[in-house]
Amino acid sequence: MFNLCNNIVKSGSRVGKQLVRQYSTTATPQQQVANVDVRTYGGLKDKDRIFTNLYGEHDVYLKGALARGDWHRTKDLLGKGKDWILKEMMASGLRGRGGAGFPSGLKWSFMPKSSKGRPQYLVINADEGEPGTCKDREIMRHDPHKLIEGCLLAGFAMRACAAYIYIRGEFHYEAKVLENAIAEAYKAGLIGENACGSGYKFDVYVHRGAGAYICGEETALIESLEGKQGKPRLKPPFPAMAGLYGCPTTVTNVETVAVAPTILRRGGDWFASFGRPKNSGTKLYCISGHVNNPITVEEEMSIPLRELIDKHCGGVIGGWDNLLGVIPGGSSVPVLPKNICDDVLMDFDDLRRVRSGLGTAAVIVMNKQTDIIAAIARLSKFYKHESCGQCTPCREGTGWMWDITERLVTGDCKLDEIDMLEEISKQIEGHTICALGDAAAWPVQGLIKNFRPELEDRIRQFQLKQKQSPF
Ligand SMILES: Cc1cc2nc3c(=O)[nH]c(=O)nc-3n(C[C@H](O)[C@H](O)[C@H](O)COP(=O)(O)O)c2cc1C
Ligand code: SF4
Repeated sequence: MFNLCNNIVKSGSRVGKQLVRQYSTTATPQQQVANVDVRTYGGLKDKDRIFTNLYGEHDVYLKGALARGDWHRTKDLLGKGKDWILKEMMASGLRGRGGAGFPSGLKWSFMPKSSKGRPQYLVINADEGEPGTCKDREIMRHDPHKLIEGCLLAGFAMRACAAYIYIRGEFHYEAKVLENAIAEAYKAGLIGENACGSGYKFDVYVHRGAGAYICGEETALIESLEGKQGKPRLKPPFPAMAGLYGCPTTVTNVETVAVAPTILRRGGDWFASFGRPKNSGTKLYCISGHVNNPITVEEEMSIPLRELIDKHCGGVIGGWDNLLGVIPGGSSVPVLPKNICDDVLMDFDDLRRVRSGLGTAAVIVMNKQTDIIAAIARLSKFYKHESCGQCTPCREGTGWMWDITERLVTGDCKLDEIDMLEEISKQIEGHTICALGDAAAWPVQGLIKNFRPELEDRIRQFQLKQKQSPF
């Protein structure tokens, strides 16, 4: 099906066999005959799932969580020490699930070993504002104890006295579930004065945001948590040095923290055995748009995009050949045309290779019935609306990009405005305080790179109509 193995043959790690990276879950007949050892990605088994109540089929609260193995000998994990936790997290190869993919163990290790009397904080980013993304909310509403236990273990490793879960304002139900689960955890002595009987004091608070996308950016989130307008700070200093209330802080995503207890129980090596090197683990993918069965599903990292869609979503509406393109990592990464979707792998490095990104692994599928220009124009409107306005390139440029993309929808543009649009996006990219500027630029750049003929055609059609029109 996606057999690229003729191009990508590595030397074998087993005597007498070739080790082949293949973009399919099945070996070809030729490989079977040749006794080739095929490393495939995808097809995660139930026994390897971390989120066993993702769809809320079982009790979400403490009794159900204990039955699923949460809070199992957490005291022993704490007893192994902070350095052991950090070492296992590094060995797991986990990369942050909030979008940027920075190695989590390393990031957590940046917190000072001694903060000279200042408190240290763990902040959980539960803002989940990236369009297309719907994974953190599933964890909070169906498996809240995984997150709370993760807060304790991550917080302990980074010497934090408390965790603040900053949750998007619209998530009323999820906030309620979290608060109930936190109350249960306090009552059972799992967190609080003497967390799990370890002698370590650790508090967990839920803080509701007001629903601005920019408050998902870690320093804007900290500002908002402090009661100010959510506007990103200049870095450095980084939050690990001066974060919440000027104290050392790590901001990290819900999914990143919620997988930590299972990693520590089953071992960093176990987690690292999934996915390609440097892209390890299992991952929650959220697939929406023109698929028969939109879903959030846990799968192995590096699963082929096509397999993800065909196996878990019942395929593209109208069939694979009816696919126009896919935004593979949430609205801020460039759209990929079908020919790349045919065999790209869903991990950080392969999506980077094709000049897009894994981002939040929110896969937005668009079939040939989509007006791709209108779709990207809608995203431009979103970014213009969400810009906090501090940096001139972002404040002005997002508006200009929206203006041009809107006119491109009807074709009411000059041909050279396509290059002008690209130039504006390049002037924004990398020239702003925070990554919202890049997030606004990349969808537009993806549109121009992959769908320029459609843009030119739309303009010519418009010009043609104008000439024919009596007015
Ligand atoms: C505009 C903008 C919005 C963001 N929104 C979120 C968000 O909703 N959730 C999130 O976890 N990270 C978000 N991030 C990324 C965070 O700044 C930060 O990198 C992340 O929370 C780190 O977590 P991780 O190390 O677990 O990936 C956003 C970044 C930007 C620039
Ligand atoms: S890039 Fe945009 S959102 Fe980020 S700080 Fe600058 S103006 Fe605000």
